[in-house]
Amino acid sequence: MKKILFVTSEAHPLIKTGGLADVSGSLPKALAELGQDIRLLIPYYQSLKATNDVYYRCTVRVNNCNVNILETRMPDSNVLVWLVDYPEFFNFPGNPYVDEHGNPWANNADRFALFCRVATEIATNRAYLDWQPDIVHCNDWQSALTPALLSLEAQRPITIFTIHNMAYQGTFPAATYDNLNLPRRLWNPNGLEYHNLLSFIKGGLAFADHITTVSPTYALEIQTAEFGYGLEDLLKHRKDHLSGIINGIDLEQWNPESDPYLSHHYETNSLNKKALNKAALQQAMGLPENPKIPVFGLISRLVHQKGIDMILECLPEMLEMPLQFVLLGSGDRLFEQQLHMFAAQNPEKISLRVGYDEQLAHLIEAGSDIFLMPSRFEPCGLNQMYSQRYGTLPIVRKTGGLADTVVDTLPATIANKTASGIVFSNAQAGALIEAIKRSLFLYSNPTGWRQLQKNAMLKDFSWHNSAQQYLNLYDSI
Ligand code: ADP
Ligand code: GLC
Repeated sequence: MKKILFVTSEAHPLIKTGGLADVSGSLPKALAELGQDIRLLIPYYQSLKATNDVYYRCTVRVNNCNVNILETRMPDSNVLVWLVDYPEFFNFPGNPYVDEHGNPWANNADRFALFCRVATEIATNRAYLDWQPDIVHCNDWQSALTPALLSLEAQRPITIFTIHNMAYQGTFPAATYDNLNLPRRLWNPNGLEYHNLLSFIKGGLAFADHITTVSPTYALEIQTAEFGYGLEDLLKHRKDHLSGIINGIDLEQWNPESDPYLSHHYETNSLNKKALNKAALQQAMGLPENPKIPVFGLISRLVHQKGIDMILECLPEMLEMPLQFVLLGSGDRLFEQQLHMFAAQNPEKISLRVGYDEQLAHLIEAGSDIFLMPSRFEPCGLNQMYSQRYGTLPIVRKTGGLADTVVDTLPATIANKTASGIVFSNAQAGALIEAIKRSLFLYSNPTGWRQLQKNAMLKDFSWHNSAQQYLNLYDSI
């Protein structure tokens, strides 16, 4: 049995802005099921929703600040959670990273440096918790100073750093480094310095014993200039200590047979009931109720990464096609406005909900026929897996985890029953339109379509395999 400290800035259902939360909510659970002693460390944001009791455990002093560590359990499991309680940094409303205009909080470097210092104290058993981990598993830039700080310790656990997205690196002006009072020894081009900026993510990339990312394809992609965002050489240099482990999904939360957000449950043998969810979705989104017309769904952060601009380019042509399009998301104001405009002008065909809505996300997965995910890059992506589980065939671009989890519909894959979606290569509107046309053609053959739905629904996206791969990795270092 390994003792694992899992350091993360979000975890579903406590607090979520994206896929990192899904992973931090479900991977520790899967590791616990494999018999490991795992504890989560997460900032105590005001918007964090703990449903189990929260207890005071201890106070640690880091960088002249007294920080309380509170303890609770994950709402839907027994996994233990330690909350970093420093009200000045975390006890205010809203999103963990950005203000209501989408701008990063001005003191983000201070907030997450403090978080990493607390992780370091716990990792070295100096936090009066009487528990020393064998493994410290950090995720994304917010926790990435931890491996760097731990590298200075004589007695330290093994460190793993998982990249969920290379596009977010946590870079700050050089002066921030001094203000943070970080050790001078870490400030050099092989350390936390990046072209005279402070780079949090380099703490993970340069100092962790092993780096993982969330799909095998993305592990290769980030070693190239197109996906490495300036850090490709460092990643190439560390390639013997870099691997990709595909994310799983929480099969209890995302299960069309028992999903509490749905009024109509279904499985492969009762796929006709999926139509009831389609009707409910059309009704909820104010679209004409029509069982025949294919409904396209999208749930996404509305940002460049997700190919929203490509979709905007395709919309005029899509409007000529027999389809409806349901969108849920928020992000860049410009994308939101442009999508609003299309929806307002075409209320019979396009319906947009701006915001974050868990229930609607489940209904879109269940009620749509086809799911659009034309990402420019996608470290793993979860919605394409949720879609397949719900018999909603995804259209994806061949990149990162999308390439690793969706099998294109081709004569050979139809024959061997592995086809589970539509895959296209070029990040261009023309290629996306072709893929959309291909999906409509496939949809027009109900028997063939049903078989594709079954192929998709029967795929194994459970965490079990991936959690075992993390465990093998922990053992191998
Ligand atoms: P990323 O983390 O890059 O945003 P993922 O596909 O890994 O992409 O995960 C996104 C997660 O966030 C999924 O669980 C998705 O359902 C959810 N999500 C994204 N936008 C919304 C929204 N507006 N409302 C509800 N859930 C959303
Ligand atoms: C990031 C990536 C996404 C991935 C998620 C969880 O947010 O953008 O592709 O699925 O992390 O690993």
